[in-house]
Amino acid sequence: MNNFKNKTVLITGASRGIGKATAQAFAEQGAKVAINFRSNRKAAEETLRALPGEEHALFQYDISNEDEQQQLVGEVIKHFGILDILVNNAGISIEHDIESISFEEWSSAFKDTFQTNLFAVANLSLLAAQHMMKHGGGRIVSVSSRGAFRGEPTKPAYGASKAALNAMSQSLAKKLAPHGIYVGVVAPGFTETDMASKTLTPVERENLLRESPFKRMAQPEEVAHAILFLASEKAAYSSGTIIDVNGASYLRS
Ligand SMILES: NC(=O)c1ccc[n+]([C@@H]2O[C@H](COP(=O)([O-])OP(=O)(O)OC[C@H]3O[C@@H](n4cnc5c(N)ncnc54)[C@H](OP(=O)(O)O)[C@@H]3O)[C@@H](O)[C@H]2O)c1
Repeated sequence: MNNFKNKTVLITGASRGIGKATAQAFAEQGAKVAINFRSNRKAAEETLRALPGEEHALFQYDISNEDEQQQLVGEVIKHFGILDILVNNAGISIEHDIESISFEEWSSAFKDTFQTNLFAVANLSLLAAQHMMKHGGGRIVSVSSRGAFRGEPTKPAYGASKAALNAMSQSLAKKLAPHGIYVGVVAPGFTETDMASKTLTPVERENLLRESPFKRMAQPEEVAHAILFLASEKAAYSSGTIIDVNGASYLRS
């Protein structure tokens, strides 16, 4: 399949987890993939090596840093000549239980979470959209979370940042449609990646598996599939949509 032939896609946090599966899925469909990562070069190089095709490249930038956000988008455009699709995937999740936390820890959990999960996405979307407006349009797909809807009792900043990401994406979908830029969101439930396995005890894992009638977590490839759909040519009229990928564990009306 060559549905994305000659399209350039920048995926933040693409060295591992959902980002890695998304890089693989786009490369299999003929896209040129810009793999962004922050620190784990070894993992990023392995991801790059596994991709079909020759024209992909690595971009090591910390998206929580404003200078690096501008360098990242600038370097990707310089390298490939164009940016057609931005996938805002990188995100962080920090425990901050209100029952047992200091003021400073609570405040810094909110600042750090919003810096990566919302402000970075806002700024990268601005940089990508201003480029796409001049080059015939594009796609922006962001990875949110089920936690935006059902609450995150011990990570309220995470849930809040993802809810804000949803609202921002829907505002951008309205504003950018006349420019041929379509904006979508994928909201996964627990997905089998480092982020999920690091934060779970065996008991929590067992309880979590019971949440879905599938009795399992999502696989990163299942989330990637929804991202690809929203970035595809025929999904233009789905702009503004939030796709749940949570195994029917949380159904919103
Ligand atoms: N896994 C889940 O259960 C789940 C559920 C719902 C939503 N999500 C969302 O899905 C997205 C991906 O999650 P994941 O589970 O695949 O994550 P992951 O396995 O923890 O991988 C995170 C990726 O993001 C990169 N990254 C983190 N901070 C970065 C930064 N400041 N700048 C650049 N890259 C950065 C990491 O690069 P380095 O390794 O180089 O640091 C890595 O490639 C996140 O937005 C997350 O909130 C995940």
